[in-house]
Amino acid sequence: MTTPRTDTASFHAYLSSLQYPRIIALCGAGLSASSGLPTFRGPGGYWRTHEATSLATPGAFLRDAGLVWQFYSYRRHMALTVKPNPAHYALAELSRKIPGFQCFSQNVDGLHQRADHPREGLQLLHGTLFEVKCWSENCGYREENFTDPIVPALALPVDGKDPTATPDISDPKVPLSRIPIESLPQCPRCKRNALRPGVVWFGEKLPMQILMNVENYLNDLAGVDLILVIGTSAKVYPAAGYVQEARQRGAKVAVINMDANDVPAGGWEDGDWMFKGDAAVIVPELLKPVIGDVIVPQ
Ligand code: OAD
Repeated sequence: MTTPRTDTASFHAYLSSLQYPRIIALCGAGLSASSGLPTFRGPGGYWRTHEATSLATPGAFLRDAGLVWQFYSYRRHMALTVKPNPAHYALAELSRKIPGFQCFSQNVDGLHQRADHPREGLQLLHGTLFEVKCWSENCGYREENFTDPIVPALALPVDGKDPTATPDISDPKVPLSRIPIESLPQCPRCKRNALRPGVVWFGEKLPMQILMNVENYLNDLAGVDLILVIGTSAKVYPAAGYVQEARQRGAKVAVINMDANDVPAGGWEDGDWMFKGDAAVIVPELLKPVIGDVIVPQ
């Protein structure tokens, strides 16, 4: 059985040997964990009594749009209260330093953007919490929206005893009011449908333009030198399949994850690396030969 390398020195040597580096970072929720946002699987993977992933479907929205909006409004609020961590800044800096670097991120939390990751080097595979769109694809309305709460009905409840405290509605013990569809954000264009979060749900296709950008990058004859698999369980396709696709184009694989058992699909191959620990610490360290010390704005 192949075991991956774990030493930073051999990784740095490889990175420094690349003349025109072609590098992918495939990112997941673990990248934002040290910023204070929960991941999907494992502890924190529940919202009230619901598996977080079970609320991320068109069927869940049809059944109870109010509940799904409460979940996403809560996530928008949480994402706005935390800050990008050194790994987000390191990836943004790598993008400025290396034209052949692309960050394929499954994260919808807006932290890459808030770390000033150059837009052309960032493919948001699952969309973003801060875009909303009409439920009807025929209407096609979409807008960027950072308003928190997006409508008054989605304001977090206030504690009866302490008006300055907001109870944590992810806790099933905190009562949650039922929100009728008329009180949810409404489409200003067709005026007939509710707006929905502009994220990709289970059962939906990834945005066409993003898929094309990814395919164009992967199919470039220059190949791929390295794929960094950062804070993702790499279980959700097509994102998970990009590891094998990068390998087929010559890439070495480096996994950065808290859990050393989160092995990429297909297992380890000769020349891979596994760096176990917090992405916010490890990613800046690994990229140091190219980006130097990461500066996190205060
Ligand atoms: P997961 O929750 O599946 O995986 C998070 C990964 O991050 C796990 O492998 C953890 O071990 C690891 N991890 C946790 N904390 C970490 C830290 N501080 N540093 C490094 N690694 C850490 O989240 P994703 O892989 O992002 O899709 O999930 C992929 C997709 O499934 C999501 O985009 C979402 C979800 O359902 C949709 O909503 C469509």
